[in-house]
Amino acid sequence: MTDTLRAAVEAGWIARNDFAFDPSAPKVRLHEPTFGPDEVMAALDCLMETRVTMGAKVLAFEAQFKSHHGAAHGTMVNSGSSANLLAVAAVANHETRDGLRPGDEVIVPALSWSTTVWPLIQLGLVPVVVDIEPRTLNIDPEAVERAIGPKTRGLMPVHVYGNPCRMDVLTEICRRRGLILIEDCCEALGASFRGTAVGRFGRVGTFSTYYSHHITTLEGGVCLTDDFDLAETMRILRAHGWVREVEDPKPWYDRHPDIDPRFLFVNLGYNLRPTELQGAIGQVQLPKLDGFVAFRRALAAWYRDALSPFAEFLSFQDETEGGFHSWMTFAVQVAETAPFRVGALRAHLEAGGVETRPIICGNVARQPGLAPHPHRVAGELRHSDRVMDGGFSIGCHQHVGPAARAHVAERFAAFFAERGLVR
Ligand SMILES: Cc1ncc(COP(=O)(O)O)c(C=O)c1O
Repeated sequence: MTDTLRAAVEAGWIARNDFAFDPSAPKVRLHEPTFGPDEVMAALDCLMETRVTMGAKVLAFEAQFKSHHGAAHGTMVNSGSSANLLAVAAVANHETRDGLRPGDEVIVPALSWSTTVWPLIQLGLVPVVVDIEPRTLNIDPEAVERAIGPKTRGLMPVHVYGNPCRMDVLTEICRRRGLILIEDCCEALGASFRGTAVGRFGRVGTFSTYYSHHITTLEGGVCLTDDFDLAETMRILRAHGWVREVEDPKPWYDRHPDIDPRFLFVNLGYNLRPTELQGAIGQVQLPKLDGFVAFRRALAAWYRDALSPFAEFLSFQDETEGGFHSWMTFAVQVAETAPFRVGALRAHLEAGGVETRPIICGNVARQPGLAPHPHRVAGELRHSDRVMDGGFSIGCHQHVGPAARAHVAERFAAFFAERGLVR
């Protein structure tokens, strides 16, 4: 497109957006956009060419995303929730050998997102909810081991906020106990465990490129797998049960010579397709991922250091040993013994323009959406309850510069000073 249009987009962007910290009206948001004029131009290009539905740009993003992760197949969808739905639907599909079957149990961490768990129920599976480790906030492998029963066939861990789970222990449990592993990496782009990217340990790994995540396609998600047949099933289920987007449609055509091959529907699919705009934006965003993650890691280290004087009352998420955390956001927990309630601290931060939010959806077993459906709670969920009742998170992204982060630290310090809680 023309240089004039590009210049106009840049000028319009600058006129509308200023992410610099303003001390006279302090605001430290939970997230700010990771995109800018480059991505706007990429999206505009799709609109101007009128190529807006899934096509070459989505394919190019899938190729880029899978090679970034060293995976054989990548399937882009319209959200991380859709990635979870598609992964579970494909693994539980009748076409899938050694897959999950209705009534099978799948172990999930209590500290997860709604749409980590809902697709299991939607596909006739039974979630088994277990507790987390209090320091890493990730699923507790010992709780997993204890929860396994005669019907347990799967494990779906969440790498909370980009902190990798103990994948050596979890993959060993899966191998020994015959569990299918589906990794929910929707918060964990850029994270790895002992040098291997998350999402590469199980049968499928799912990712989200939602607006507030490490990189964005506005809404969006990706499923990664090395299993060709599973990837073909995902491509079919993503688009109406249609064979149109599979890599090798010929066997399907040969099996159904009486049906127009352009309109051949072979499975009970959905429409989870992304648009070309999302594929185009993703191609511009992915090369920026490592830089964003490096920024987030440095910021998390800074927060930990700056808030260390309050260690008697606050604790922070610990990076898993052997893990490379990508810090989607920064989690803070108030000690049970603290002489104040988490709500008071959050209110104080919010009043000073520091946005806060609960940690993921808290203990999912306490969310009303789960109650009417078959599920099992295995053991106590004490640590997940603590996170839900005493935890919150603050922004840990590329726009929290030196002045913004200093403001956050000052707000914490003022809270403790007002209560005479600093020595
Ligand atoms: C652990 C986890 N899984 C799945 C999702 C769903 O992703 P999306 O918001 O892209 O639908 C989220 C959302 O942030 C999440 O945190």
